[in-house]
Amino acid sequence: MLPSVKILIFFILCFFLFVLFGPFSFNSSKLKNEPELHGNFLHITDFHPDPHYVNNVTAVSRCHHKHLRIEEKPEHMLKGISGPWGAPATVCDSPINLINATFEWLEKNWKNQLDFIIWTGDNSRHDNDEKIPRTPIEMFRLNKFITEKFLKTFSNKKKHAPHFIPIVPSIGNNDIYPNNVIGAGPNELLSILHEIWSPFIPKGQHETFLNGGYYYTEVIPGKLIVVSLNTLYFYDSNTAVNGCIEKGQPGTLEMKWLNDVLKKARRNGMKVYLTGHVAPRAKQYTKSCYKIYGRLSLKFQDIILGHYYGHSNMDHFFFISADGIQKDNPKDDDEVLSIDENDLYDEVENVENDDDETVENQEENGKVETKVKNIEKYMKQLLRHYRSLPPLTEDNVKKHVVVHINPSIIPTFFPALRIFKYNTTEIKNEASDLDAPSRKNTFLTPLGYTQYFINLTHANLFPNVKPEFTVEYTTWDDYFLRDLTIPSWMQLARNIYDGLNSALWDKIQEHLLVGTRDLIKEKNDSFQKCTYSKCSAKGPEDYIASELTF
Ligand SMILES: *[C@@H]1O[C@H](CO)[C@@H](O)[C@H](O)[C@H]1NC(C)=O
Ligand SMILES: *[C@@H]1O[C@H](CO)[C@@H](O)[C@H](O)[C@H]1NC(C)=O
Ligand SMILES: *[C@@H]1O[C@H](CO)[C@@H](O)[C@H](O)[C@H]1NC(C)=O
Ligand SMILES: *[C@@H]1O[C@H](CO)[C@@H](O)[C@H](O)[C@H]1NC(C)=O
Ligand SMILES: *[C@@H]1O[C@H](CO)[C@@H](O)[C@H](O)[C@H]1NC(C)=O
Repeated sequence: MLPSVKILIFFILCFFLFVLFGPFSFNSSKLKNEPELHGNFLHITDFHPDPHYVNNVTAVSRCHHKHLRIEEKPEHMLKGISGPWGAPATVCDSPINLINATFEWLEKNWKNQLDFIIWTGDNSRHDNDEKIPRTPIEMFRLNKFITEKFLKTFSNKKKHAPHFIPIVPSIGNNDIYPNNVIGAGPNELLSILHEIWSPFIPKGQHETFLNGGYYYTEVIPGKLIVVSLNTLYFYDSNTAVNGCIEKGQPGTLEMKWLNDVLKKARRNGMKVYLTGHVAPRAKQYTKSCYKIYGRLSLKFQDIILGHYYGHSNMDHFFFISADGIQKDNPKDDDEVLSIDENDLYDEVENVENDDDETVENQEENGKVETKVKNIEKYMKQLLRHYRSLPPLTEDNVKKHVVVHINPSIIPTFFPALRIFKYNTTEIKNEASDLDAPSRKNTFLTPLGYTQYFINLTHANLFPNVKPEFTVEYTTWDDYFLRDLTIPSWMQLARNIYDGLNSALWDKIQEHLLVGTRDLIKEKNDSFQKCTYSKCSAKGPEDYIASELTF
């Protein structure tokens, strides 16, 4: 064969190869296989549905009965009358129609616009009414009720696969029985939860879940992982386990597993969200678990895009620092993350006993209530925590991670949820090692969130109008954040403390109580002025009981 013919054949071959496997065909196959990214995800938490909720009864009865007897020292959370859509800023759980309204709103507004969902637990009511004790069966039924809501709301019957977007639930302290306490797996509790949640648990992860109640989901295959942690193995109130150091402890095994997941993610160039129910803080985790969590978070800081938790109902953020986890006893550290949430919104059995030593009592009685006290003290501690942040140097940024507590659906404050936006612009051959998306805005970096809420005071004025969530605030407009990288949050914390920015601090405090700050103040003030038996219902939430006297 003549050399020129050979060359011609070679070029013809090249042309066909190019047509077959070149950029055009590559692109079209990419379009087929990879789901289109919308750049949005949802974080939602703490539903606490209560099928026994009754409209127009006292909050002191947990919104279950008509009786008006006051057994305990009045606190603002016991004051009020239930409304048709919930009883804001009280001890009551969520009425079912509030849960239904939430999913209807999500379906109407977000069904085909989310890429994945983070859902951080507590899917049953509290066990806080002696007259209607919560049985394990009721608890699992409620969990199944919420699960089916998710499946129904986000399923897509038209397409074969995926039949719904990735949804990543994690176990709350009220998803197990008795609450807070769960031993090493495999056990019956994990089997039951596994059965209820199996549509959400990816192939190859079922064994892991059955053994420990944790797993991860590749929410964007090959690119982004959401880890669902079983934080109850780290939780101080779980008396069935003991920390994260001792060999064989479920917490130790879980941390080891987490380390492996993070290592593998980094090796494969993937990014990670850490999610769970109880947030990593010195007062809520055992010492060893808190320190190891902190160490892992810092070690993999470059690929961890966020730490998203629930449980505390309050909307806020705080930091874990290298200094804080080096302390011998992080719980003694007043400046860095010693905010004592147990003083405030944690679930304790008894109003008198609110320190860490009440765990046994809690377990014995298996009863909990959510209570609120000393909000001002908490706010001051938070401010002091923000003030303790060092200046924003590259070195300091590497020594901090930011943890987020998402507000809840249960109306401890007004019900709220967050829709996040993240960066979907993937630039090929990016120097990904240098551009940690947790520190610099690049592909997958969370860009901001919009927090939506229902003003229940308003909603309760219209018993026949299904309430809709409306914008409470956004990180762009209200916090002036360009993105949600670690430096951006550190800068925000510094700005909050900046004396010139008291307006910003005011906003943060409003948001912490999700719009109920005035309501709580009003209730609290009216307690100071009159004895309970003589007080007429005064808060705007009490409209419905205006003819009642206490
Ligand atoms: C609420 O209950 C009170 C007393 O039981 C009753 O007088 C009032 O009419 C009720 N209001 C509604 C809206 O049902
Ligand atoms: C809530 O939705 C469920 C269906 O998921 C329905 O069976 C129930 O009747 C609804 N309840 C209320 C109070 O709207
Ligand atoms: C997303 O990241 C790229 C870099 O990868 C950047 O150029 C772009 O501005 C970012 N997009 C947004 C909306 O911030
Ligand atoms: C909630 O609605 C009530 C009644 O309409 C109103 O007085 C109050 O200011 C609203 N609160 C917020 C935070 O929007
Ligand atoms: C309630 O009122 C008391 C006395 O006026 C005050 O010390 C306390 O800080 C108030 N609490 C809240 C949550 O407003």
